[in-house]
Amino acid sequence: MRGIIEWLVGPGGPAAIDGAPLEYLIKQYALDSGALEIQYLEEYFGEFPRKKTANEIAARLEDREYLILMAEAPLPDDPGLIVPVAYKVVHEVRLSETEPKLVDLVAKLDGCIRFEDRKVLYSWIGGTRRDWRGQGHFRALTEESETWALATGFHEVVVKTKNRFYDMRGTLDQLQFDVIKYEVNPLDNRESKVYLSKQLTSDVVRSHTSNRTVVQV
Ligand SMILES: CC(C)(COP(=O)(O)OP(=O)(O)OC[C@H]1O[C@@H](n2cnc3c(N)ncnc32)[C@H](O)[C@@H]1OP(=O)(O)O)[C@@H](O)C(=O)NCCC(=O)NCCS
Repeated sequence: MRGIIEWLVGPGGPAAIDGAPLEYLIKQYALDSGALEIQYLEEYFGEFPRKKTANEIAARLEDREYLILMAEAPLPDDPGLIVPVAYKVVHEVRLSETEPKLVDLVAKLDGCIRFEDRKVLYSWIGGTRRDWRGQGHFRALTEESETWALATGFHEVVVKTKNRFYDMRGTLDQLQFDVIKYEVNPLDNRESKVYLSKQLTSDVVRSHTSNRTVVQV
């Protein structure tokens, strides 16, 4: 089955019945089905020319701890149809990485993140489809990933973005990520990289605000 799943829901979808608090519907995927779903969903992110393939995603995640989450919501003009609208993939990153991109990441984080005797999570890819932005889906995914990460023994989550990704920078600010490193691109400052992190504590999880229903696929 592709990512679109028909559910029987009332008008306005599952999230807004009789003024009740929004309830975000999140699916947690296993590796192969999750990688395929993300490849499919990334087709909707027109602003990013180089999209991740399912093979690339699966190769990155196998042999490490990871979480593949997808939020689903009703189509505005057909609320009975529930579609994937946002996703987030997080995975463990270790000092002993061998994949060149992760070796580079660990090297860049040297002096900013302590890896010894700690579990560090990397928030790798994620986003929300345009028509569903600003509705809390990414917060819900992030909070779910933090709850999982704390329960799984992670100490810190790190994320990388660029100056020019203003939506993501604003969002990470709201989600209380702290800047730990700024890597200047001398040719184009909009391409400069920003590294941020968040310590995972029970206080962080207690401060979460989203109501979520999580289904394992
Ligand atoms: C960044 C992005 C994931 C946000 O997704 P979203 O589902 O709209 O985010 P949410 O609605 O869950 O918002 C989470 C918080 O961030 C804030 N926020 C969202 N977009 C924002 C923006 N453009 N500027 C400032 N704050 C923003 C929200 O107000 C919210 O704060 P609150 O919960 O404290 O009220 C989405 O805009 C996106 O996919 N952008 C393109 C992806 C991208 O830029 N990738 C860069 C590669 S790193």
